[in-house]
Amino acid sequence: MYLIWVAEALRPRLALQCWMESMGSRSTRLQRSDKPSTPVLPAMFGRYEAMVGRELSQAVPLLPLAELSNVMRYHLGWVDRHGQPAASPASQGKALRPTLCVFACQALDGDSALALPAAAALELIHNFSLIHDDIQDQGYERRHQPTVWSLWGAPRALVAGDAMQSVGDLSALNCAGVGVPPAVALKVSGILTESYLEMIEGQCRDLVFETKTTITVDQYLEMIALKTGALIRSAVEIGSLLATGDSATTAAFANFGSYLGRAFQIRDDFLGIWGDEKATGKTADGDIRQRKKSFPVVYALENCLGPSGRELSRIYGAGNQAEMEESDVVRVREVLDQVGAAGHCQQLTERSASQALEALLGVELAPWARTEIEELVHFLSRREF
Ligand code: IPE
Ligand code: IPE
Ligand code: MG
Ligand code: MG
Repeated sequence: MYLIWVAEALRPRLALQCWMESMGSRSTRLQRSDKPSTPVLPAMFGRYEAMVGRELSQAVPLLPLAELSNVMRYHLGWVDRHGQPAASPASQGKALRPTLCVFACQALDGDSALALPAAAALELIHNFSLIHDDIQDQGYERRHQPTVWSLWGAPRALVAGDAMQSVGDLSALNCAGVGVPPAVALKVSGILTESYLEMIEGQCRDLVFETKTTITVDQYLEMIALKTGALIRSAVEIGSLLATGDSATTAAFANFGSYLGRAFQIRDDFLGIWGDEKATGKTADGDIRQRKKSFPVVYALENCLGPSGRELSRIYGAGNQAEMEESDVVRVREVLDQVGAAGHCQQLTERSASQALEALLGVELAPWARTEIEELVHFLSRREF
């Protein structure tokens, strides 16, 4: 049985990609005139998938933590809600953070094996944040399946998230076990823990912002740097640290990660409003209904004056905790269209993506690595899922 689970966990995400591409081709057909084809996961994701998958399946114990591990394995998309092997890999994540970590290590001529425990730790911490995020955001769907809290209730989702955090911490400790010098392993653990403390602060600000209408773009950028940027930054910083002791290089990679994280979250905000739920696997309108101060809304609240601006402020009004009326959801979309929020959102994504590339200009990299970084940045700023 264990072998079946491992095999399920390792099943290539290629099938997911094919499935996503079929989803994507629909939107490409709809938007052919003004949009290039839907980007697909760059090659680096496939290259590290099996090794990261093996590390993850070792990290998430089956027994004796059966009660916890079934819920964790469900969230990771390995098994269904009854604990049976998942029918398709559609509910597995992209594994962006572990991919970034192993890639950064290899791009600097490091040994990818040294990066695997940290890579798994990053993915587990990310998944801990998602299990809790879905409770906090009242999200019913993630990765094309019902969220953990919506199936088992918030109390059990909380403990499953806590457990995911703990196995992430344990995985980071394994760095020393694969030959990383103890001082470096300790540094890796420190970077990871500090970054997810930032992530938690970012989550807290995101929730506080739900009841405010006066959030500036700078406050928004600070919030996303914490909730999303910090973990993505630590992924590339840790990967580079495992390959080199050169602090200027690790600082450049960290800077790259920060801008990449910014681009990633702003694109996520775009998808949260204009994404196709068949591609994103998340409920459409969730961000609007939760009165999230995602970039398009912050932009519109700042730039839309007159009656439409006042209406937007009323809908997003502080202290307005009532469920949003359907007609208000429609009105929000109209006002966002009126101020061109989608275009401004994408512009900021692409500016952040360019800044990410610029951060690495001073680092000496093999041509293959530079090319793959460009492919990655291109994908992340135009992704549909
Ligand atoms: C979603 O992250 C949450 C954010 C930080 C925006 P991902 O898009 O990396 O999630 P998965 O792991 O691929 O589902
Ligand atoms: C998720 O942010 C960030 C963390 C979980 C730390 P969002 O709430 O914007 O992401 P999605 O859209 O639910 O994946
Ligand atoms: Mg959230
Ligand atoms: Mg969310």
